[in-house]
Amino acid sequence: QASDPALVERAARAKAALGDRLFVLGHHYQRDEVIQFADVTGDSFKLARDAAARPEAEYIVFCGVHFMAESADILTGDGQRVVLPDLAAGCSMADMATFDQVEEAWDLLTDLGLAEITVPITYMNSSADIKAFCGREGGAVCTSSNARRALSWAFDESSAGPAKRAGDRKVLFLPDQHLGRNTAVLEMGLTLDDCVVYDPHRPNGGLTERQLRDAKMILWRGHCSVHGRFSAGCVDDVRARIPGVNVLVHPECRHEVVNKADFVGSTEYIIKKIAEAPAGSAWAVGTELNLVKRLAARHPDKTVTFLDRTVCYCSTMNRIDLPHLVWALESLAAGQVVNQISVDPGTAHWARVALDRMLALP
Ligand code: 13P
Ligand code: SF4
Repeated sequence: QASDPALVERAARAKAALGDRLFVLGHHYQRDEVIQFADVTGDSFKLARDAAARPEAEYIVFCGVHFMAESADILTGDGQRVVLPDLAAGCSMADMATFDQVEEAWDLLTDLGLAEITVPITYMNSSADIKAFCGREGGAVCTSSNARRALSWAFDESSAGPAKRAGDRKVLFLPDQHLGRNTAVLEMGLTLDDCVVYDPHRPNGGLTERQLRDAKMILWRGHCSVHGRFSAGCVDDVRARIPGVNVLVHPECRHEVVNKADFVGSTEYIIKKIAEAPAGSAWAVGTELNLVKRLAARHPDKTVTFLDRTVCYCSTMNRIDLPHLVWALESLAAGQVVNQISVDPGTAHWARVALDRMLALP
């Protein structure tokens, strides 16, 4: 995707005019034409951690999706304003868990006397009010780079863990069933039978009381539509096509895909793994296509290929394009704040509690 030179120049000019008043964050799934203007790039954990790195910046332009910009607003100072260049850059996975649905599930667990032993953990890919719910109910946020540590903390029955009654501890994992299952089974030694899937569209989540009592992991029925496209057949196919290929996937992929892969990790992990790989090695990568193409271009001495044969961009990440970025930057340079993402103080307080618990994980 060649970027329009006139727009590149306008973005550069507006960015230079704003100087230290501006801080641009960019997620690894962003388009090349956008990511070139990021002061910091990262996975969602790194971007949450680094959002507050420039307290002097008046404007934080977030090149990513809505839930990331919300987290940046929660984690940064009162005087800082977070801007999302296109408000339509949402996340279909985050939309799969609404506050009312989660409250209904929690009421069910409360009625069964299970809420006092259940720790709600939400993936970063969730709205601020779901994060606030987790903060209020003794839980935490996690990302794909610290999900194992978050689950270890949740299941910790000592005083170092969450303030929940010990004994038969459970986790309600929101909203990505795959990250929850993959982490529990492949990294925590739990079994598939320890996991049940709660479907918010069915009475009682489609589960019996016995299933809820026996489960260790209650997984929300949510998924990423981009990573959900990779199948076990894609892994077999690429292994047949490229002998000796290393299969490297994101943990948002389905369990059978992760099970067949050689390596699994967040976008930051994927980047590091390929950077450290020897020249001549071959990699099939199961994650969003902007990132895979960038890795292939950055490492011409290695074979880096997309795990699927079809094209697979995240359409909402792609909504942040150069025209939207130019519009946001030029508006800010002209003193007009557009597309500000602002979380109300009550929600922000409890969401911050849940985010801080994540940031404090060992
Ligand atoms: P990470 O950047 O944390 O790996 O997450 C990937 C993702 O899907 C973000 O939406
Ligand atoms: Fe959401 Fe998946 Fe896109 Fe990430 S890649 S923003 S989880 S839809």
